[in-house]
Amino acid sequence: MVPASRGRCDRMPIMRFRWLISVLVGLGLLSACAPLDATETPTTAPGRTPAQETGGSHPGERLYVLNCQVCHGNQRGQGGVVGAPSHNETGHTWHHPDAHLTDWVLNGKITGAMPGFGDRLSEAEVSAVLSFIKTWWTPDQRETQADVSQRYQEAIDRQERSQ
Ligand code: HEC
Repeated sequence: MVPASRGRCDRMPIMRFRWLISVLVGLGLLSACAPLDATETPTTAPGRTPAQETGGSHPGERLYVLNCQVCHGNQRGQGGVVGAPSHNETGHTWHHPDAHLTDWVLNGKITGAMPGFGDRLSEAEVSAVLSFIKTWWTPDQRETQADVSQRYQEAIDRQERSQ
């Protein structure tokens, strides 16, 4: 005699695959959880952009993210430390000529906690980082800073010629 339960399964063949369905549902849940786990355990330091985003289209972007962002924060000024000014359009980095900015990045600032990068970055790399920062400024700020940089350099050159 056929047990009653078997009779029910025969009428609903899908019930035979119940175990398979629960395994598939379980796998589905696991894979749905995976991205959550990834966001809960970031692989980069706070304030840093995940590695896949540091490739960036600008040659100075990766250098900025790796060397500067930990203190100065990202373009929105997020993720930095107190005392390190944002280099975006709300900061005052654009008030200074290139010669000063380059000098500070290579040699540090004696007045504060800005470290020198002369032993880690070449002048070309510093120039790339600065030109990346400039993409955060308004067109007016870029124009003014370029003008200030040029006039400062001309004044220095004149002084050197007269000595
Ligand atoms: C350990 C933290 C730290 C790191 C890393 C750092 N800075 Fe700074 N930086 C500071 C602090 C603090 C100041 C403010 C010092 C002061 O003005 O006396 C500063 C100031 C500056 C200034 C002067 C801004 C102004 O308007 O006076 C520039 C330019 C600058 N940093 C660029 C950079 C660049 C580019 C990098 C990466 C190559 C970098 N910094 C990495 C902490 C840091």
